[in-house]
Amino acid sequence: MDYFAKNIISILKEETHLKEDEIENLIEIPPDIKMGDYAFPCYSLSKALKKAPNVIATELAKKIQAINPISEIKAIGPYVNFFVDKAVYSEKVLKSISKESDAYGHAKIGNDKAVVIDYSSPNIAKHLAVHHLRSALIGSAIYHIYKTLGYKCVGINHLGDWGTQFGQLIVAYKKWGNENTHKSYTVTDLNNLYVKFHQEAEKNADLENESREWFKKLEAGDTEARELWQHFKDISLKEFQKIYDMLGIHFDAFIGESFYNTMVEDTVRRLKGKGLTRISEEALIVDLEPYNMPPCLLRKKDDTTLYATRDIAAAEYRKKTYNFDKTIYVVGSEQKLHFKQVFKVLELMGYDWANRCVHVDFGLMKFKDGKMSTRKGKVVLLEDLLIEAVERIRKIIEEKNPALENKESVANDVGIGAVIFADLCTKRNKDVVFDWDEALNFEGETGPYIQYTHARLCSILRKYSKPVTPDINYSLLKEDETIILIKNLCQFPTIILKAAEFYEPSLVCNYLIDVCGSLNRFYNTHRVLSEDDNLTKARILLVNSTRQVIKNGLNMLGIHAPEQM
Ligand code: ARG
Repeated sequence: MDYFAKNIISILKEETHLKEDEIENLIEIPPDIKMGDYAFPCYSLSKALKKAPNVIATELAKKIQAINPISEIKAIGPYVNFFVDKAVYSEKVLKSISKESDAYGHAKIGNDKAVVIDYSSPNIAKHLAVHHLRSALIGSAIYHIYKTLGYKCVGINHLGDWGTQFGQLIVAYKKWGNENTHKSYTVTDLNNLYVKFHQEAEKNADLENESREWFKKLEAGDTEARELWQHFKDISLKEFQKIYDMLGIHFDAFIGESFYNTMVEDTVRRLKGKGLTRISEEALIVDLEPYNMPPCLLRKKDDTTLYATRDIAAAEYRKKTYNFDKTIYVVGSEQKLHFKQVFKVLELMGYDWANRCVHVDFGLMKFKDGKMSTRKGKVVLLEDLLIEAVERIRKIIEEKNPALENKESVANDVGIGAVIFADLCTKRNKDVVFDWDEALNFEGETGPYIQYTHARLCSILRKYSKPVTPDINYSLLKEDETIILIKNLCQFPTIILKAAEFYEPSLVCNYLIDVCGSLNRFYNTHRVLSEDDNLTKARILLVNSTRQVIKNGLNMLGIHAPEQM
């Protein structure tokens, strides 16, 4: 809620005796600026007051006095419409952007409370898949957003580095991998070993037994098994890190599933102690039938533990270590049931924080030209995707602006930004269709478009070449296009709060598209640099404020905002 809305809410609170949050939910921003800046619908009062909404609106409008910053109050049909004094409004908004600059949109509501965010979390010895990319980008944006709201964020990569498949990999490596060339192994080689293992295991059932033996050895801490596993892990981490670096994704800790090995026993003991477990078909489970869910599997009949067991242990560990206020798991929708089960088990264990575990799910990412689709044996190489995005942008820059300085770093910022934006701008639980031409278009609803708008604003400011000051005559900012833009800028802090509340970075993307649209309408109708010094000063302040908001918004999404492109 912005300052003006707050003002209106407090007036309405007195007049209607509704609660603050009720009014907040009701207040609307009229689609047409001529109808006012805020509108309050009177339908919900109609029942209690036994009057028609139109009548209530008329009465309220008469009763409420328009005092600064409200300049006029008018009933329009069933609505009470509020007009804010434009100069007061603009001054308030633009001065706060000037003052807060890089921190505009930030807040202190988090009070340093800890939020643990689990994102990307790929499985080692396999390529980083597209859903790990989506998770990384959404998770990292949520991290930035929560951090700007004053939370202490802990970003964790919960690597999938444990499970029976590592027994298979060891067998395959010993049989068909060349142990001597050890050093030059890549994730592709490891992946091929898996494929080979499964092909051979179809012909030879002994292989499965061998692999089970090796996994047991690994669980027991056998030196050779451990060394090989560590080697696979090192190879994988090196490749993952390369991609995280390209994307600018940061983690505070890489704590894989294997880390919980020594803790799962205690977790299982606690579960047993609370009488929550039973044996079913030789496996140890928590029965979740009363909650209409399949059982949560804790231990298989060969005594090995499972993904869910490790997630329960991990949640306990995170609570103990970080004392989180909230813990967020950014994982694809296909794991909905898994998290429902894990959270339910935590609740049954008596943890009052179980309801502060949140699964932030998301849809699939598909590729329009089908080129990058995951077919059997053919994996999406994210590194190639990112390199290609940068390459394509480099070509566009070469055509449009060959004299540009720092071409390399701009191509990088824009290419990577395009991929990040294309991923984040769709509501997260919908599927994303990635289309090269769309994602890289400088004119569509894309990252490059927003970055380009930002760079254009920087170029206007360079041309102006004088210091920007908030000491201007605010009554000069008066045309509809101008006010609409200022209203957009005023919304930024509210949008960030909403994005945090719903774990929805797409709200920030769509907001930035709106701001750029408003900016372009303003810019196409009004000259920024003119002979009229005072007007120029006022419009330059607006240009600088818009630049600032776009930059802050892009940064929250993990996208750079180059000043020239
Ligand atoms: N490694 C898992 C996968 O690739 C994702 C892990 C998500 N995080 C978690 N705490 N379970 O599907």
